[in-house]
Amino acid sequence: MAEDHKKNGKVIVQAVHEAVKRYGTSKDELIPILNEVNRKVGYLPGEALEEISRQMKVPKSQLFSVATFYHMLSTKPRGRHVIQFCESAPCHVAGGREVWNALREELNIQNGETTPDGKWTLITTSCLGVCGVGPVIVIDNDVFGNVTPDQLREILARYK
Ligand code: FES
Repeated sequence: MAEDHKKNGKVIVQAVHEAVKRYGTSKDELIPILNEVNRKVGYLPGEALEEISRQMKVPKSQLFSVATFYHMLSTKPRGRHVIQFCESAPCHVAGGREVWNALREELNIQNGETTPDGKWTLITTSCLGVCGVGPVIVIDNDVFGNVTPDQLREILARYK
């Protein structure tokens, strides 16, 4: 257990080093840096925020505010796959509500939760910019448009 913690700490510090090396220490690069570390580590644990704070000379409280504001970032562990559901009006009127209800029923979780097996995290998001094909869900980086409740099971089955 202690070994695991040490190993994770190393992975986190390395992810921060690589992101800072790539983007530099300008405050304008905070979001890309947080995003990259979030992607590599899976989320933004306190250790990651501390290390970014140290390297970028930005207060940890400010990093925490940014990390909790953007839906693509998370300060809590997430599942192996993250489903973003667009809850903006154009998707909503195109049948989004039915898809949202079916998603929660299929996964048996609510917004912001992760399934007990650690496979799925479900979050809502505002417009993803592809309103013409609503309702829209994004799984990891894959965009699915014109989604109907009937398609959900088949779509989810594509992910291990
Ligand atoms: S409203 Fe859903 S993608 Fe724009």
